[in-house]
Amino acid sequence: MKAVILVGGEGTRLRPLTCNITKAMMPVLNKPFLEHLLAYLKRHGVTDIILAMSYLPHHIKDYFGDGAKTGVRLSYLIEEEPLGTAGAVKNAERYLDETFLMLNGDIFTDLDITAMINFHRERKAVATIAVTPVDDPTAYGLIETDAGGRITRFLEKPGWEEVTTNRINAGIYVLEPDILARIPPKKTVSIERETFQQLLARGKPMYAYSSTAYWLDMGTPEKYLRLNYDLLLGKAPSLFNATGGVQIGGGSQIDPSAKIEAPVLIGEGCVIGRGVKIKGPTVLGPECEIAEGASIEGAVLWNNVRVGKRAILRNCIAADHCQIHEASQVMDNCVLGDKVVVGKNNKLAQGTRIRPNKRIAPGSISS
Ligand code: GTP
Repeated sequence: MKAVILVGGEGTRLRPLTCNITKAMMPVLNKPFLEHLLAYLKRHGVTDIILAMSYLPHHIKDYFGDGAKTGVRLSYLIEEEPLGTAGAVKNAERYLDETFLMLNGDIFTDLDITAMINFHRERKAVATIAVTPVDDPTAYGLIETDAGGRITRFLEKPGWEEVTTNRINAGIYVLEPDILARIPPKKTVSIERETFQQLLARGKPMYAYSSTAYWLDMGTPEKYLRLNYDLLLGKAPSLFNATGGVQIGGGSQIDPSAKIEAPVLIGEGCVIGRGVKIKGPTVLGPECEIAEGASIEGAVLWNNVRVGKRAILRNCIAADHCQIHEASQVMDNCVLGDKVVVGKNNKLAQGTRIRPNKRIAPGSISS
């Protein structure tokens, strides 16, 4: 079976992390997000994959090539202007002549797609939509069904007073190619808000496949942090074999006085100085340098991040080549884009986001 993965969105809610790379290439446990998703599909025997791209497509192509090193076969489609979720799959129509899978490219899940495909076939559905329970459904598309799982209503981002179910569209679909005939070509169309509604109005058999497997859509920095934490804490064991310990990449040097409290993943070639404290869940990308007396807790650092003496980082994200100089503090949910330099003695308050290449002068922020 073929799969179309949508990786064309700009990921605006994840800015500044997505200013220079797409969401699909953001590292999760030191590997691009998409690499995890491809491995998941491969485990279910889905190896013929079409990537529907628009925003910054070259990074994805350069990294994955024809897919051979990931064990899948990749085809690439680039939309000059983003076509929306239905427009993107319409654009792939020439590749799709039998039942196929479609996935949002920002879903991290353990859902049993093999069982979902069987469910779809048994019911002779034209579309089967995976649904997953969430605590706050108001930010999502809700799906109501009858007792047999047949979809009876879609409800997009309802207010609390309208909420009738906590089962939301999980962004994973099994589809029949016939539905593509209903999508106008080269137009921006949403499958959730337009195509599915039209199929329902025409009485087409559409089903919800319910699952309580691990599921997370990596749409915001908070969810990105949560995903890294969940995986390190072993909340999705089939997706990542968390040792619960401290994993140290080859060539890293750790001073014996450093105190590292699991779960922590340290990439290759890192240097951890004297008296450094690192408390998990924390991820250090390759080539990070943490100077004497610095303290890091719950952070995700990408490639080649430098942390100065006695700096404190807590529950934050720093993209490639950031520098946080001596005695500066970067607090909860702060997000630093690529190559940000935080001069010494700054204190970045909770939730501060800093665009790539910005330099903050020493001692200029003390909130
Ligand atoms: P935000 O801008 O933060 O909402 O993120 P996003 O651009 O990724 O949008 P959203 O989270 O709604 O998208 C869900 C999935 O669909 C993501 O994997 C996107 O990459 C993908 N996507 C969204 N719009 C398009 C599009 O126009 N074309 C393609 N090919 N993919 C899209």
